[in-house]
Amino acid sequence: MRGEVGKIVGEATPYEFSFQIYNPLEVKKGDFVKVWNDADGWFAAYVSEIKAVSKSDERDGSETYLAKAVVLGKRSGKSIILPKTPFVPGDRVFKAEEDFVAECLGFYEDGVYLGYLGDTKIRVTLNPNTLVQKHVCILAKTGSGKSYTAAVIIEELLEKDVALLIIDPHGEYESLKYPNDDESLEEFGLKPKGYADKVRMFVPPKSPLADKADGILRLDGINLSAEEIIEMGEIRKSSAQAAIYQLIREMRGRTYTIQDLIDEAEQLSGNLKAEIIGALTKIEETELFSENPTPIDVLMQKGKAVILNLAGVDPVHQDIIVAKVCREIFEMRKRGEIDPGMIVVDEAHNFVPEKGIDKSVSSSILRTIASEGRKFALGLMIISQRPARIDKNVLSQCNTQIILRVTNPNDINSIKRGVEGITSEMVEEIKRLPVGHALVITPDLERPVIVRVRTRKSKHKEAEEIIKFEKKKAKKEEKRKDSPKKEIKEKKGGFFKKLFGGD
Ligand SMILES: Nc1ncnc2c1ncn2[C@@H]1O[C@H](COP(=O)(O)OP(=O)(O)OP(=O)(O)O)[C@@H](O)[C@H]1O
Ligand SMILES: [Mg+2]
Repeated sequence: MRGEVGKIVGEATPYEFSFQIYNPLEVKKGDFVKVWNDADGWFAAYVSEIKAVSKSDERDGSETYLAKAVVLGKRSGKSIILPKTPFVPGDRVFKAEEDFVAECLGFYEDGVYLGYLGDTKIRVTLNPNTLVQKHVCILAKTGSGKSYTAAVIIEELLEKDVALLIIDPHGEYESLKYPNDDESLEEFGLKPKGYADKVRMFVPPKSPLADKADGILRLDGINLSAEEIIEMGEIRKSSAQAAIYQLIREMRGRTYTIQDLIDEAEQLSGNLKAEIIGALTKIEETELFSENPTPIDVLMQKGKAVILNLAGVDPVHQDIIVAKVCREIFEMRKRGEIDPGMIVVDEAHNFVPEKGIDKSVSSSILRTIASEGRKFALGLMIISQRPARIDKNVLSQCNTQIILRVTNPNDINSIKRGVEGITSEMVEEIKRLPVGHALVITPDLERPVIVRVRTRKSKHKEAEEIIKFEKKKAKKEEKRKDSPKKEIKEKKGGFFKKLFGGD
């Protein structure tokens, strides 16, 4: 039969076997082969390891090549089955056709197109419902392609009209608006595409990007909790912290603003007075809190991605913003007042740190969403370069794990502990993954797979490129304005006008 590349040797089980390779140039690590099982028919297997062994009966130093193969299972209805009887030593091993491998793995039709399977041209498409409702984490060392991979998933989810809120501490995601011009898109069968019509960038009032943003995020400043005030005001002394609790008690259940607390603090005496008023004034001056806050349903809308660009924002304020926005989204989602969707949290170790390592006010609500979000169709995408520093409970709630290159031993250990079914071979593989290659573990696939993440349709970060693009656009606009024949459309309005009415 054509395509025969070896024969099974040694021990074989229904899940894995070794085979002797006829021609070492024909089989390499990461390839897919197929073998016959008398009870259940053809199965595909993944070549996970190859070694050269000297032939014991020869003295000329020639060697033989042995491969280890892990059986992939095959799709039967909604589930993946593995054979019930072992493969048989002596049986022949063949190269697997790509269509057959795809059929065995049973990728979700019309799913989230993440990239190609290993070195093949097999499209890995994941079930969008699993991704959104059962949470995703993307873990890797810095510069390995986490934000890039997240953006690929965001593009796909936007095309499926999922509502997304992106917590963007470094301002990396606005480039989703602009098309990519990378030629490697063609290799993935794709065309450049910008998502300017679906992506809106919001920033806090004092952000350095305020004039570039599509909207300013103002939070509800009514009845801030003592913990929020203590964190934002960076109140360290326990006497001052106690004074804040006391001030809030003085409000006796009435609604209060920061200004009300400042007025109340005027009654204080001694050293604490100046310290408390100073801290409250600092919070007031952020202008983050308002009696006319941004309506939260604006941040989570079917088919739209809202980026909370927190670049240049004090980390303490970032924490409060994430805590308050996520809390309200969760509460509104519970009452069915906003669309189902997903919250993407980049640099998540800052917002849900492992207990005992760090503290954050946002961790409590993110933990709640991780454990209860699926009941209310609210998903999480957790992205981090320090898996060891993220709350383990949150990581363990992420049913889909996308792991790019990780080398730090602590991070490797936390992946080993947090990811079910990860083998020592996979761990070795993770340490060596090239940029943009990911190990993907998801409940819809029986086995973890290596994916060469596809090129983005939209541009990746590169701030200068975006500035160039904006300049070009502005020049075009100027030209259009100079031309009396053409109608000039007002830039104002659009998304905002639709939401709030008026100008
Ligand atoms: N799938 C991919 N295809 C092509 N290039 C990629 C891919 N993934 C990553 N890259 C390249 O690697 C660079 C780093 O990727 P990315 O910004 O996503 O890293 P990161 O893991 O988020 O890093 P950090 O921890 O610094 O945030 C990108 O600028 C891009 O050039
Ligand atoms: Mg990143």
